[in-house]
Amino acid sequence: MKEYNFIYHTHDVLVLGAGGAGLRAAVAASEGGLSVACISKVPPTRSHTVAAQGGINAALGNRNEDSWQWHMYDTIRGSDWLGDQDAIALMCERAPEAIVELEHMGMPFTRDESGQIYQRAYGGQKTDFGKGGLAYRACAVADRTGHSLLHTLYAQALRQNVEFFVEYTALDLIFDEKGTCLGVLAWDMESGALHIFQAHVTILATGGFGQVYAATTASTICTGDGNAMALRAGIALQDMEFIQFHPTSLYDTGILITEGARGEGAYLTNALGERFMQRYAPGSMELASRDVVSRAMAQEILEGRGCGEKKDHLHLRLEHLPPGLIDSKLPSIKEITRTFARIDIHKQPIPILPAVHYTMGGIPTNSKSQVVSGDKIINGLLAIGEAACTSVHGANRLGCNALLELVVFGKAAGELAAKTISRHNSHKIIIDSMLEAPLSRFKKFRQAKGNIPPNKIRKELQKIMQNHGSIFRTHDLMLQGVSKLAGLWRDFGDIKVADNSLIWNNDLLDALETDNLLTLASVTMASALNRTESRGAHFRADFPKRDDENWLSHSLAGLDSNGKVILSSRPVRLKTIEQGISFPPEERGY
Ligand code: FUM
Repeated sequence: MKEYNFIYHTHDVLVLGAGGAGLRAAVAASEGGLSVACISKVPPTRSHTVAAQGGINAALGNRNEDSWQWHMYDTIRGSDWLGDQDAIALMCERAPEAIVELEHMGMPFTRDESGQIYQRAYGGQKTDFGKGGLAYRACAVADRTGHSLLHTLYAQALRQNVEFFVEYTALDLIFDEKGTCLGVLAWDMESGALHIFQAHVTILATGGFGQVYAATTASTICTGDGNAMALRAGIALQDMEFIQFHPTSLYDTGILITEGARGEGAYLTNALGERFMQRYAPGSMELASRDVVSRAMAQEILEGRGCGEKKDHLHLRLEHLPPGLIDSKLPSIKEITRTFARIDIHKQPIPILPAVHYTMGGIPTNSKSQVVSGDKIINGLLAIGEAACTSVHGANRLGCNALLELVVFGKAAGELAAKTISRHNSHKIIIDSMLEAPLSRFKKFRQAKGNIPPNKIRKELQKIMQNHGSIFRTHDLMLQGVSKLAGLWRDFGDIKVADNSLIWNNDLLDALETDNLLTLASVTMASALNRTESRGAHFRADFPKRDDENWLSHSLAGLDSNGKVILSSRPVRLKTIEQGISFPPEERGY
């Protein structure tokens, strides 16, 4: 302990992560009169929210009639009835006001001819409780919606004097002997110093863990650090088997090609030029939910109808769309495909492939974003955004509900902090024993003198998950994956961190992140192996049907003291309290 000189900070609220959720929470808490620190691995405007393209859902009804109850129904159906309906109702009901707030903050939404916010169609969303035509619900800033949202919120956070600590890596949460979260131990990459951030409320907004897979639209920072910290603190993670594959990532790069393209009329073809979605979802075609479209694509490739010499991808076609529409509504797609694939989308199809895009599972919370462990609320700890499993997405997220979740629950978390914290509360003293576990993990990796570079382990891990925990899963395939992961854990015991310094030590950062990823991969695979049904994004070729009798429940996966995965479950909240509306399970088809 004595070998480190800690730098201490005390704030009312500490936010980990400066993506859309973290920034929205920071703004709300500051507006509530609290002092707020926000720490981030990267400059805030480089947080992964920046990559979100197509839109943010709200039943504004600018293009056709819409209602938040229809939005709620679509979200529940999209979730394959695994979503918690109290949280979903809250999100959909508050969506319109969240958009108006963003607009008032200066978010430059694209406009329709009459000057209203432009809204486009997205997969799995219809009117009239799934019985009507397409819902035009995604409010967009061309195809740069996440970029605009992030910059808008960052400007607001600066305006509110949120204190940013940029290029800091959070190492572990700090708890007192009663299990109340007191803050976090973090490492400043630039100076090499270790910092103790203490707060009355710590908000985890650390994003998802898409980096456990080889083919992903998630940026390299998406290593699930908050999820892994929660696991190490003894909090079981929820629904980790539900991994979303986005149907259209640019072949060979993993770069997202927005679903907004299909919302604007683009369609998919196979090597025979067929619109193959006719076979899988004749009612919704390319605008079925993502799990359905991704599975159809994987099936086409498996059956030999993939495009190109290797027959390993499919085509997204925009050549028929008016050039003016592409230039005004999908300018980034035009630019991305030109830069990274040398394609002119006015004349050529885009080679695409499903890639991991979103992790539905995460840190379990109630609808107030309070972290829960079993029936117990963890004092002083909230979780929001992709890091959390609130669970508004259940087994499959609808496109454009992620940005919505960030702002609705981000705001609510900041406001809850403002309501519960008294500025006169004193901070508890942090004693050495509270830092023992976080520091010994950090030291272990600093002193790792084995033979294998951490990055080699990360690459191997991504390959294993891609091959054994992908779109189609079976018992045998996943069991092989579990055994390969066990081998990789053994190899991880022999890693070498070559750099000894604490300043910009990317090797050490890689080791810490890879440890997080390996842990999350293990709980993901164990949860997937355990769930013997197919639901949403979790498709078991050996159990192809949804089984509500046995599996209408959330999975929980924790770790015992030897790092072994312990599985349990908890019921889905199928009822709402305030809104008095709920949707009992029904068969899902598109
Ligand atoms: O395709 C997209 O624009 C992605 C949106 C989302 O994941 O919500």
